[in-house]
Amino acid sequence: FFCLEGIDGCGKSTQLKRLAEFLTGKGYDVLTIREPGGSEISESIRSLLLDIRYKGVMDSRTELLLYNAARAQVIAEKIAPALAAGKVVLADRFAWSTLAYQGYGREIDPQMVLNLSNITCGKFNPALTIVLDVSLEESRRRQAGENRVADRLESEAVSFFERVRNGYLKIAEVFPDCVNVVDANGDMDKIQDRIRDLILKRLA
Ligand code: TYD
Repeated sequence: FFCLEGIDGCGKSTQLKRLAEFLTGKGYDVLTIREPGGSEISESIRSLLLDIRYKGVMDSRTELLLYNAARAQVIAEKIAPALAAGKVVLADRFAWSTLAYQGYGREIDPQMVLNLSNITCGKFNPALTIVLDVSLEESRRRQAGENRVADRLESEAVSFFERVRNGYLKIAEVFPDCVNVVDANGDMDKIQDRIRDLILKRLA
């Protein structure tokens, strides 16, 4: 069970897709999921969470609980059965997103967020999470190139994303055994190579 993390616009979705293709080519049976989402109930919760109409309306604790609710469901429906069947699960975001965004970003007590993650995930935690670290400028630049309307989270202030980014770096410092940072400012192919190296080491 592996996960890619990072602030919006860090490139993790593209990198995850390439990683999935690479591992499938190596003969692994791969399941990819994106969070929040990945099951019918979790996708419904995702719509609530990202709806721009709830900007300034949705309470931070509601947000925290909804991300966890979406996660509990996708674990039960998709992740647990896939791992039991011997598949490699690749997640585009997982519980570290909640610590970074709701804990550090929204400034909810990190210990409380971790306690809740324990209830939600139990033993289902990625063996390795790779944080793709980009500067705020690079993240903004990539998102501007996407040519679509920002969702509720994406429309947060720069200071919010600064807290989230620093939160990820702090998480990697505190949990070095299961969270690694990869500099994601540069060349896409080199970043992919680095990700593959780290994952293959864990699969060996
Ligand atoms: P998404 O469009 O999937 O963003 P990205 O492509 O950057 O992953 O939207 C997910 C948004 O939800 C993203 O802004 C990060 C945020 N998020 C949280 O705040 N907490 C969480 O626990 C998760 C999983 C995501």
